[in-house]
Amino acid sequence: MLKEKDRKLVVLYGSQTGTAQDVAERMGRLAYKRHFSVSVAPLDSYPLVNLIHEQMVIFIVATTGQGDPPDNMQLFWKFIMRRNLPLNSLSGVKFSVCGLGDSSYQKFNFVAKKLHKRLIQLGGQVIHPIGLADDMHDLGAEATLGPWLKSVCDKLLNMHPLSKGMEVIPDDVLCPSKFMITKVNETAESLPLETITPYSQHNPYQAQVLSNDRVTAEDHWQDVRLMRLHVPQESIAYEPGDVLMVMPQNSEENVTEFCQLLKLSPSMLISFSLRDSGQTLPPALAKPCTVESLARYYLDLNSRPRQFFWEILANFTTSDLEREKLQEFLTPEGQDELFTYCHRPRRTILEVLADFPHATEHLPHDYIVDLFPALQPRAFSIASSPSAHPNEMHLLMAVVEYRTKLQKPRLGTCSTWLASLKPSSRDVRIPVWLKKGMMKFPKDAPVIMVGPGTGCAPFRSLIHERAHQGLSGALLFFGCRYQQKDFLCAREWQRLEEAGALRVVTAFSRDQEDKIYVQHKITECGSLIWDLLSKQGAWFYVAGNAKNMPDSVRDALKKAAMTHGRLSEKDACNFLLDLDKSGRYQAETWS
Ligand code: 2AM
Repeated sequence: MLKEKDRKLVVLYGSQTGTAQDVAERMGRLAYKRHFSVSVAPLDSYPLVNLIHEQMVIFIVATTGQGDPPDNMQLFWKFIMRRNLPLNSLSGVKFSVCGLGDSSYQKFNFVAKKLHKRLIQLGGQVIHPIGLADDMHDLGAEATLGPWLKSVCDKLLNMHPLSKGMEVIPDDVLCPSKFMITKVNETAESLPLETITPYSQHNPYQAQVLSNDRVTAEDHWQDVRLMRLHVPQESIAYEPGDVLMVMPQNSEENVTEFCQLLKLSPSMLISFSLRDSGQTLPPALAKPCTVESLARYYLDLNSRPRQFFWEILANFTTSDLEREKLQEFLTPEGQDELFTYCHRPRRTILEVLADFPHATEHLPHDYIVDLFPALQPRAFSIASSPSAHPNEMHLLMAVVEYRTKLQKPRLGTCSTWLASLKPSSRDVRIPVWLKKGMMKFPKDAPVIMVGPGTGCAPFRSLIHERAHQGLSGALLFFGCRYQQKDFLCAREWQRLEEAGALRVVTAFSRDQEDKIYVQHKITECGSLIWDLLSKQGAWFYVAGNAKNMPDSVRDALKKAAMTHGRLSEKDACNFLLDLDKSGRYQAETWS
């Protein structure tokens, strides 16, 4: 008989949007069904000193836009990459790495690949080859993940076969809920979830809204806001390039719908305990809260269902028709159907619950937290300058709204909530904290900034900061669709230009028949740019959300170096690589 300690499996994840966490938890459930004693945790919550004593560790790590590790594995990343770690320190550890990335980005699954190599270098033994899932296509990731998870489980069972009489728990048997939920009181006042010190995700600063103005024309398709928040400098000090993290809340409408669908009283006070004593409660659920608080501040009501969601529904529905459909969604053959019903039209969990009333009606309350992922913070480049706008932080934010075949438009949870906030209501607060930005700016060299749309946000911060310090030499390439409709901050740029603090070059993509983009303007201004970069030591920045824009801009820059610097293609590429190395070329993109 194998000892319990031999069947111990640790699943560690680095997750930015919750997908890697979902996969890690799925791995955890598969291992649980194979009678492993399994614990699942974000990398930065796991005591790293224990790593050398583990026997089997599965890493599920996402790669964010620029090839960076997610926030909840930053400490681990620094630690594991330290040069002075002894090369055989992980020789007792068997591991496997699975990466989640987006193949439309250059550094596809960079974090997973680098981690895999590093763990081997430190003596770790590979249980199963690295899995690289592509999140670009909804079905693409699953096509890799499903088989990868299954193969890892097979290997684990080969290494640690079940003792006689034990069997793998079948796929269609539901795992227990993560939490046990106890009713504390029938009614209680709604309270925000518990917070702790200092200003961070678990203790955000509660910022007041000073103004919230639409900066695109009323008849423009997109609502872009300039939001001014009151944040005293002594509470949060920041620099241009820094990022404000915002914890969103669900809409009143969604909270009400949640309570109605699940037949829960909003004012009921509930407390949480973990079924598995090896885990820790998320800080937000450590104290009792009302159902309303749970729904408003913690659960991501608008998100899309994950695999465990379908398993839970299939298990509890009392309708054969519903069960058949739900079980189909859990099979490889049912993935197209699932995609058409759920993922393509971006159906939300609440909408699916409404579509499966016989399942929803019989869901035990303990499973509520398992149905929904937790709300995740959103990152916004800070658009204000600490010197020019003391005690304020500005966000330049596009309100996310789009249509699918469903009648109701799809709304971004965070931007819709922020856009709805009225500055007049004093009790409206936005939970925020700071994240240091990746972009670094020079003290006095000229800067060339390329920021179409809300991509200009971090540059607005820098431009105001430089203007306040009396620095000139700022060149901004701004792009939008129409001069009259979405030329963000137009008057402000004009004033700064008049004051000699800035030069703006604009690309209005739809004011004429042919598209004019920022990269075309870069080509037009090639001689000036070449002069700034090669003779005046300028720094070059790109920010924005258009996927192909950064590559096209880089290409335009390469061509400028070839045309105006008379460099060969190879030398122009090397020139750009040198700029990268010295930090004089920096890009920040988001989707
Ligand atoms: P479009 O919507 O007319 O295509 C801000 O979003 C601006 O960036 C818009 O004018 C948008 O133009 C433009 N944009 C879209 N894709 C781009 C790309 N690949 N390169 C540069 N600009 C782009």
